[in-house]
Amino acid sequence: MDKLQKALEKARHERKARISPDPAAGPAPQGTTTTLDPTALAAEPLDEKARVRTRVIRPTMSPAWEALPGLMPDPNHFLQNRIMTLQPRPEATPFDILRTKVFLMMQQNNWTRLAIISPDKGCGKSTLACNLAVGFTRQPEVNVALLDMDLRQPSVGKMLGHTPKEEFKEVLIGNMPPEQQVVRLAGNLAIAASKHSVQDPSQVLLSGNIEQVFDDIQTHFALDVMLLDLPPMLATDDARAVLKHVDCALIVSRADHTRVGQLDTCEREVAEHTNVVGITLNDCRHMDGESSYDYSND
Ligand SMILES: Nc1ncnc2c1ncn2[C@@H]1O[C@H](COP(=O)(O)OP(=O)(O)OP(=O)(O)O)[C@@H](O)[C@H]1O
Ligand SMILES: [Mg+2]
Repeated sequence: MDKLQKALEKARHERKARISPDPAAGPAPQGTTTTLDPTALAAEPLDEKARVRTRVIRPTMSPAWEALPGLMPDPNHFLQNRIMTLQPRPEATPFDILRTKVFLMMQQNNWTRLAIISPDKGCGKSTLACNLAVGFTRQPEVNVALLDMDLRQPSVGKMLGHTPKEEFKEVLIGNMPPEQQVVRLAGNLAIAASKHSVQDPSQVLLSGNIEQVFDDIQTHFALDVMLLDLPPMLATDDARAVLKHVDCALIVSRADHTRVGQLDTCEREVAEHTNVVGITLNDCRHMDGESSYDYSND
């Protein structure tokens, strides 16, 4: 754990020295790495747009949200799939803290699209994406969508106990409006999931339609946050095709699983496309305290 942390910091330091970002230059431009530093978040004032947005309370659902079919959550199914954030409970706390920190950072920079990504398979991306998304249902003033962008091995639907009638691919290629495919959890979480895997996702992801579809979804549901569950960065080109359409990314690594070199390569490649908000260390059982989740700070 220490070794991984030190090696990562060294690589990051070397890269930073090459990029030399100017902290006085305002929101981080694409291609630089930002880390989750809670004290920095508290110290810097939110810009006016973000301030206005935090004051908005939505007492009633808009027609666009009301028209969506509701998903009835099965608490046992959620817990079996490690989705802990439906209710406030001790196991939800690390996800809630992470959600709040990432959301504040997004507001501060006027970012709305967050990709969840990892270097290799099985780090816990989908579990984390679902926990963040479901956690937002306890923050009803924030409109959120969770999109399963892992078209080869979609798992969001399975984790949340939702079998979509239509495939999300149809929305992505422009054959279907989003409101015909997505479902709603509570009053503020829209879920776009897939039932079957897509054999050649590059046809869908490089179709040139993605940016327009994301814009349509964002506008239709007046989204504050769009969460995208991505495939592993280093396995295929699929993640790269999506990353250029997001504002920022959170990298998930897994203790005793992710190698330092993989993490460094992943961070560097993600930073070429978008802003890195931080790195989580999932499934870490070597820490003091109750949390099995952590994130790195400079
Ligand atoms: N902190 C954790 N402790 C124990 N098991 C976990 C933890 N986080 C995730 N898992 C389990 O690890 C497996 C992989 O998790 P998940 O599917 O979220 O990873 P992923 O990064 O999305 O994988 P893929 O790259 O295949 O999409 C799942 O069975 C999940 O329940
Ligand atoms: Mg996954």
